[in-house]
Amino acid sequence: MKLKYKYPCIDEINILDIYKNDKYFYDWYKIVRKILKTKEFQKRRLFIHHENESLWTHSIKVSFLSYKFALKYNINAYNCAIAGLLHDFYTKAWQYSKELECLDEKYREKFIKKEKCNFKQLHGIHHPIDALDNSKKYYNKFLNKKIEDAIISHMFPLSIFNGNFPKYKESLVVTMIDKYVSFNLSNIKEFTKYLGLKKIQ
Ligand SMILES: [Fe+2]
Ligand SMILES: [Fe+2]
Repeated sequence: MKLKYKYPCIDEINILDIYKNDKYFYDWYKIVRKILKTKEFQKRRLFIHHENESLWTHSIKVSFLSYKFALKYNINAYNCAIAGLLHDFYTKAWQYSKELECLDEKYREKFIKKEKCNFKQLHGIHHPIDALDNSKKYYNKFLNKKIEDAIISHMFPLSIFNGNFPKYKESLVVTMIDKYVSFNLSNIKEFTKYLGLKKIQ
């Protein structure tokens, strides 16, 4: 397993090192390796996602755990691995980190323009749409209708506000694993932050 990293990671841990001893790791890795190797996906090593965890690490967790869950329950594991990896592949970082300064301004736009947004433009509501558009732009050959549905509906029930309900088993797996990975119940006061409904600067 050799990945050349184009950007340093804001995390102290290497999530791939943690998972590599799992017996399902290499079959999962074969599915996602081509995306992990790309410069565009590696930019997510600089994005803060939850609790100072990078978007890179969060996406890998959701992908790998969704893959394993799918295998166990006879659901399409390829679809879950790709959808898990790309479900938060949005363009504009929603939390500021100084490491973002080495990227193009478009990734820091929310902090440069400081525009007011309406409810549907809040991160928690809008980012699945952005993630799907961006996934089509960079990784269209990996997608299919079930993966696209899992990406755009992963914030269910908030996805209802954009008219998107999880239609397939894969979508239910990704939305459930994303919540399992994201929510820190010991810090319940930050619930609106986890949902992307609280503005963070
Ligand atoms: Fe998300
Ligand atoms: Fe997520």
